[in-house]
Amino acid sequence: MSISRKLFIVGAATCFSAASAWSQTYPTRSISLIVPFAAGGPTDVVARTLSVPLSRALGQTVVVENKTGAGGTLAAAQVARAAPDGYTFLIHHNGMATAPALYRKLTYNALTDFEYVSQVVDVPMTLVARKDLPAKTLPELLVYLKAQGDKVNLAHAGLGAVSHLCGMVFRQSVGVELTTVPYQGTGPAMAALLGGQVDLMCDQTTQTVPQIKAGSLRFYGVTTAQRIKALPDAPTLAEQGLKGFEVMVWHGVYAPKGTPKEATEKFNAALRLALKDPTVVARMAELGAEIVPDAKLTPEGLRGWLKQETDRWGPVIKSAGVYAD
Ligand code: MLT
Repeated sequence: MSISRKLFIVGAATCFSAASAWSQTYPTRSISLIVPFAAGGPTDVVARTLSVPLSRALGQTVVVENKTGAGGTLAAAQVARAAPDGYTFLIHHNGMATAPALYRKLTYNALTDFEYVSQVVDVPMTLVARKDLPAKTLPELLVYLKAQGDKVNLAHAGLGAVSHLCGMVFRQSVGVELTTVPYQGTGPAMAALLGGQVDLMCDQTTQTVPQIKAGSLRFYGVTTAQRIKALPDAPTLAEQGLKGFEVMVWHGVYAPKGTPKEATEKFNAALRLALKDPTVVARMAELGAEIVPDAKLTPEGLRGWLKQETDRWGPVIKSAGVYAD
């Protein structure tokens, strides 16, 4: 055997044993889980519900950090640039697939600048309004909107947020103008809605179910094709005449490109355990979030879905001419 071949084998063996020693001790310190929207909102609720069992499974604290702005794209850009050392992860939703068409100056590529860990939960949305809005039902709301037009405010979490996407689908399907009011997340937008400072919002059940059950909001229906278990008596918007109205929020976990496979695999295994934790299962069910089936709890499941959603929404958004610079 030539000397250079021997050296290559020794070098490869050293690298392999260093990597396997690293993977045996990883993680040795706390891990950041970046949430692209404000604390208290739906993405934050999912992240914080998972952080305790994730910390238990990984043997290190998973610290939820909120990095808000530009409809979730600032957080995604930060994670794309972060050290790929296994200590930074991102939880994000449909915005990963819609932002490339919405933002002309995005500094990352969602399809190439990340490692994919897993899909997590799917969450229905609801159409809600401030409690004292005169319209009590969806038909009354449609009459009210036609009369008031752009005097009605629709709160959302920025271009790329699902609250914005859902609001735009609603606006288009009922053919009314609305004035949109962006927030750093639907957490603060919900505070404004409860305080009566804005009128209307499309938001995820992970935030709205407790408010709907407490009677703190007007509630017009769910955005899914079928009724949901968390709100069994609530009609869908489609069954009330908004034909084809369907918006479902999906969440995935990402890491910076180049993160060691051992780290993404350990995080994936911890996530699978966390999603089977009885407290998590009960909490997600109570909030209307559906834990995805095992086949989607994989890097391939997330990567494939992201590509499919990017291909689906890109042309729709581009033809609508909605974008940010
Ligand atoms: C949030 O967590 O605030 C929401 O997911 C924002 C959104 O509507 O996309």
